[in-house]
Amino acid sequence: MKIRKVVFPVGGLGTRFLPITRAIPKEMLGIIDKPLIHYAFEEAMAAGMDQFILVTRHGKNSIEDYFDYMFTHSQHFNIKNGSVCYVRQNEPRGLGHAVLCAKNLIGDEPFAVMSADDFILHSKSCLGEMTANYDGSNMVAVVRVAPEEVSKYGILDVESESERLVIAKSVDEKPSAAMAKSTHAIVGRYLLSSKVFDVLVNLKPGVGNEIQLTDALLKMIPSIGLTGFKFEGQRFDCGSKEGLLEAILHVASLDKSLKHVIDNFWEKKA
Ligand code: UTP
Repeated sequence: MKIRKVVFPVGGLGTRFLPITRAIPKEMLGIIDKPLIHYAFEEAMAAGMDQFILVTRHGKNSIEDYFDYMFTHSQHFNIKNGSVCYVRQNEPRGLGHAVLCAKNLIGDEPFAVMSADDFILHSKSCLGEMTANYDGSNMVAVVRVAPEEVSKYGILDVESESERLVIAKSVDEKPSAAMAKSTHAIVGRYLLSSKVFDVLVNLKPGVGNEIQLTDALLKMIPSIGLTGFKFEGQRFDCGSKEGLLEAILHVASLDKSLKHVIDNFWEKKA
C-alpha cells in the first residue's frame, strides 16, 4: 500500500537548546537560511507524501506561520494535490503520545513519522528510500552509534541482518551501554502500521516518564515485526548543539558561496 501521510511531531520542549527554545521551536532552528522543519518537508515531498500532519503545541505557532508563507510564496512547496493539518498535543508527554495525537487524521492506513531534528542529507530522500523498501512491518531508520551513545536511542536487538535491513527480535529505549543488545540505533524516520494507535492508547509511561513510541514498537513485534533500515546519506543529530553546529558547517562547506567563509575562519585561527 502506498504511504502518503506523514506525521511531524513538533511538540517537544527542546530543553537541550534552552534558552532559545523558550521562544523559538527547536524545529525552527536554522541550517543557514532554512529551518530544520523545511528540510524535513522537502524530504517528505520527495518521498511522495501528500498529507502532512504537524503535531504542535503552545509556543510553536511560528511553524504554522512559516508554512503559511512558504505555501503561498514558494514553488518548492507546491502541494496543490495535498493538504497540511495541525493537531495539538496539549502537553509534551513523549513521542509516542505525540504520534497518538494524529490518530484521527490517519485512519486505517500505514503512515510515516519524521523527527525534523534528525537532519538527513541524502542524494534523493531517506524517507523515499524507506517507502521504496517498505514490507508492511513497522520500519525504522537505523544508524550505527558508538557504544557510549546507545543510552540516547532506541536500540535494536538483532534477529538477523542483511546489507540494508536489520530484523529486530526486541528493542530497548535508552539502554545503558552494558545492557544494549547492539549499536543499531533508531533515528527519526518511521513507517508504521495504523495498529500502533491501539497499542499507544493503552501504553503506560516508560523511560523519562514519557509515552515511548519504542515501547509500542516492542509490543507489536510478534504481530507486525520490526525492521531497521540502513539508509544512504548522512545524518546529523540536530537535537543536540554539537549536531546542529556540525550540520551547519557541513552544509556551508558544500555551498560554493559560503565555503570560503569557513576556510578563511580557520586560516585566521591558525
Ligand atoms: P526529543 O526526544 O528530542 O525531545 O523529541 P525534545 O523535547 O524535542 O528535546 P529535548 O530532549 O528536551 O532537548 C524527539 C521528537 O519528538 C518530538 C520532538 O518535537 C522531536 O521532534 N516530541 C517529543 C513531541 O512532539 N512531543 C513530545 O512530547 C516529545
